Amino acid sequence: MKNKMLKTGTLLTIGMVLLLSVLAGCNSASKKEAGNKQNQKPIIVQGPMPIEAQKFAKKLENVKEEKSGNFVFYKGTVDNYPVIVVKTGKGMENTAAATAIAIEKYHPKAIINQGTSGGHDENLNVFDIVLGKRTTNIGSLKTEDKKEGEGMDPTAWKPMDLMASEGSAGEDPDAEKARYYEGDKKLLAAANAVKDTYKKGKVVEGTIGSADTWNNEVDRIKWFHTKYGTSVEEMEGAAAAQIAGSYDVPFLGIRVLSNNKVNNGKYNPNTAAACQDYVYEVIKRYISANAK
Ligand code: 5AD
Repeated sequence: MKNKMLKTGTLLTIGMVLLLSVLAGCNSASKKEAGNKQNQKPIIVQGPMPIEAQKFAKKLENVKEEKSGNFVFYKGTVDNYPVIVVKTGKGMENTAAATAIAIEKYHPKAIINQGTSGGHDENLNVFDIVLGKRTTNIGSLKTEDKKEGEGMDPTAWKPMDLMASEGSAGEDPDAEKARYYEGDKKLLAAANAVKDTYKKGKVVEGTIGSADTWNNEVDRIKWFHTKYGTSVEEMEGAAAAQIAGSYDVPFLGIRVLSNNKVNNGKYNPNTAAACQDYVYEVIKRYISANAK
């Protein structure tokens, strides 16, 4: 009798130990999974206007909205990988601030700045998309020396590189050049790999020019196209590229033409949604190729 009780006791103990170790195993597996998720650095997708951010935000799963100042961060996932869509607001200042906040807060793996733009190249039509092999600030300029009464001559203005040195850009001859921010190679590769999925126009590599300016003078647009090699202009890319660069975060600008003065391409706001659909494909490709 005593023997039988001992045997049952031993079996119960072994059973308990087995059960506990299975439970512990499950727990550490789910902890590991949660740990992996936490270690995954998010990809940031920026859009300036509501029409340039909200379509993408709607595609996210498990979305939580956070705000910082005027900036709205839609935190979610794509294919189980963390992606944060940011409505930055328009212009260079908003974009620079939204980029710095996103980097400090979320430590992203990569940043894509996307949205609409105006064409500088007559071969590009409304709905075509430019991948920013290079992005440059076209609002950073130094004028000629002229005395009172000598007038002004915008075609003689020189590009000015504020990042050339820590000294005065007005006095430094090395600063009399444009600075080009290179698009990240892996982001560009992902974008090129899915370009056939975009059916509304062509997708080409090019140069994105940014400034808080909307140029409507065709001669001035052509001047930028010749002097800087710009394919399109917008108001955000170079600001995001500069800040991403200063933190060493991979960056790419992706811009759809919503208008093109050079070939009479009329403004079409539906281009913003088309661009987000394409960028969604780029993100999925980037995640499967690099991020998981
Ligand atoms: N010039 C400047 N910005 C443009 N945008 C679209 N087209 C142009 C253009 N031709 C974008 C800017 C900004 C908003 C005014 O639209 O990036 O966010």
